[in-house]
Amino acid sequence: MLSHLLHLEGIDSVVLESRSRDRVEQRQRAGILEQGTVDVLRASGVGDRMDRQGLVHEGIELRFDRECHRIDFPSLTGGRAVMVYAQTEVVKDLIARRLADGGHVLFEAEATAVEGISADGTSADKMDGGRPTITFRHGDAEHTLRCDVVVACDGFHGMGRRCVPAGTLHTWTRTYPFAWLGILADVPPSCDELIYARHERGFALHSMRSPTVSRLYLQVTPDADLADWSDERIWDELEARFAVHSDWNLERGPITEKGITPMRSFVAEPMRHGRLFLAGDAAHIVPPTGAKGLNLAVADVTLLARALTRWFADGDHAAVDAYSQTALRRVWRAEHFSYLMTTMLHPDPEAGDFECRLQLANLRYTVASTAAATVVAENYVGAASA
Ligand code: DHB
Repeated sequence: MLSHLLHLEGIDSVVLESRSRDRVEQRQRAGILEQGTVDVLRASGVGDRMDRQGLVHEGIELRFDRECHRIDFPSLTGGRAVMVYAQTEVVKDLIARRLADGGHVLFEAEATAVEGISADGTSADKMDGGRPTITFRHGDAEHTLRCDVVVACDGFHGMGRRCVPAGTLHTWTRTYPFAWLGILADVPPSCDELIYARHERGFALHSMRSPTVSRLYLQVTPDADLADWSDERIWDELEARFAVHSDWNLERGPITEKGITPMRSFVAEPMRHGRLFLAGDAAHIVPPTGAKGLNLAVADVTLLARALTRWFADGDHAAVDAYSQTALRRVWRAEHFSYLMTTMLHPDPEAGDFECRLQLANLRYTVASTAAATVVAENYVGAASA
């Protein structure tokens, strides 16, 4: 996305992707697009397929105590909604567009070192001096790239953040006493909108990728082993957790993929060191409840593309210098919302009966009070001010 936005401003970039094209185009991640994300994709000319195939969702369901409660987005957020369009498809559209525009996207290109990032700041008169270099392996050869800036968009486990000198970054990490077991199934979704269910047996989420493919999740223990989860056990557990008093059925179908996702909150500050910028998961991780990861990453690079454009075009580095602080306000808002959704909906196996009752009281209040429902709605659609 960043490479595409920079290209539209006439700024050259090279994308070093350590994985294969196939791998990045298949990897399952949440695909709920906020209005702001949809707007950027459309405005930059990569929203056509999303507009044809994406599903506009105007609400979610919160399910607890065997009852269904709907949170309506437009009425609570001044008309906003979200778009269900799989992240794999966003990635495919962006790769196709960069390649069609003659962009440099190198797959299976492993960066091994980044040097010279803090040789100077961003002052325009030093633009020619001390440019950073990236060393990377591609094919059998080692290459060196000399750049004006390096942006680490390489995820939590990437090497980008580790290039910042020790002691310069402040980090926060929170782990949760559970994980998600996710499945992809070739079956039409059993619902029109996503269902976030809290049950004594644990949280469950019914999401979807298309009118014929469902994506479902179960709260499991962090040490859960996929080998213990047969397809039948997964469907039985999902059925138990989604059960309601009314007439509702969970359709089963062939499971095409299974995986376990750990849950973590993480933030690294600042999101810049000299000429190295951090964006997306390289700088922050949210637990998946609320589907904020992709949206935060798009927000980071949209901000950064604008800031870099001003810097490269006329030497104005005010926006580049403000990047970290500006991005982090939205990051912490999303950190709070993801934490809120996670702790509201997952029974904590280590907590007692008191916490359990508080959780239910909070859920009842969330669906009964317009003020409380608005907190969920405006954060979910990405309209909450940071
Ligand atoms: C999905 C994942 C989420 O974490 C979420 O909150 C909503 C949807 C998904 O994979 O579709």
